[in-house]
Amino acid sequence: MNNIKQYIGGVLLLAVLSLSACQQPGPNQTGSEYMPDMAHSIAYEANYYSKYHLNNWDDESVKSYVELAMHHDPVPRTIPRGYAGVALSANDSMLEEEEALLEGAEGGIKVPVNGHVPFYYGNSEEERQRAMEEIRENPYYITEEGLAKGKELFNIYCAICHGEKGDGDGYLVRDANPATGDPGGKYPAAPVNFTLDDFVNSSNGRYYYAIMYGKNVMGSYADKLSYEERWQVIHYIRSLQAKAKGAIYSADENTLNPEYGTPVAQAAAGGNAQEEEMNMEEGGHH
Ligand code: HEC
Repeated sequence: MNNIKQYIGGVLLLAVLSLSACQQPGPNQTGSEYMPDMAHSIAYEANYYSKYHLNNWDDESVKSYVELAMHHDPVPRTIPRGYAGVALSANDSMLEEEEALLEGAEGGIKVPVNGHVPFYYGNSEEERQRAMEEIRENPYYITEEGLAKGKELFNIYCAICHGEKGDGDGYLVRDANPATGDPGGKYPAAPVNFTLDDFVNSSNGRYYYAIMYGKNVMGSYADKLSYEERWQVIHYIRSLQAKAKGAIYSADENTLNPEYGTPVAQAAAGGNAQEEEMNMEEGGHH
């Protein structure tokens, strides 16, 4: 009797010991597993060649580990974070010279007329200053079509306050004229006069930023104007400034502020600032 008890006790002890030894997980050992499929995902290792032995995919459509670990080029015609879209007018009237430049532009893309281009600036005074420092030239060449488009849009969206001449004397802020019984504009804040030196000398970032976020009582026009349209409006504002200053800002010549806008005629002749910028696209923020 004693022997049997001892025997059974021994067997039990051994069984417990051996089981617990097996179940003990270690760094390289999972221990014994009850329902292992709960512990180990049977999910696929996507695109991993050797796990596909059960599939009958052809070799070319599967990538090796080495390939997966390698640096990837951005998808063509997409804009990596921190890059600018080298937006040359993306409509049918696109000039051959522009197309040619685009072909050679690394990181450059043709932005569709209503395409979205990222804008990495927050809504604060520091960010406004940063935009003014970093966004300098207009990414579109000055073209006749662009100026015409800019004029049309400016007269729709901006002139009512800033005036058709850009001098800040828009319909909403016009003076009263007792002779005609006109009570004058009722708008409470004075829109800025773009023809003042301060605005003529400001970089394009000031304008682009104002369109994106508005300023004080002026609201944002980011949802009214596409990327290209914003820049064409800015071209047009520059041409109004040129008119007020007796300078030229046209598809042929820019004597107002050559660093902020390149006439397309000059682009065709080669050797302009924009072409250089496209070659060293790093850190552009338009
Ligand atoms: C409803 C009136 C109104 C309309 C429309 C309007 N603005 Fe303004 N804008 C203002 C006022 C007011 C200010 C002055 C804001 C301030 O400095 O307090 C201003 C200021 C600006 C400034 C100067 C920002 C700065 O850095 O000081 C720019 C640039 C500008 N507007 C561009 C535009 C453009 C471009 C449009 C059309 C797309 C436009 N505005 C439409 C009222 C308007």
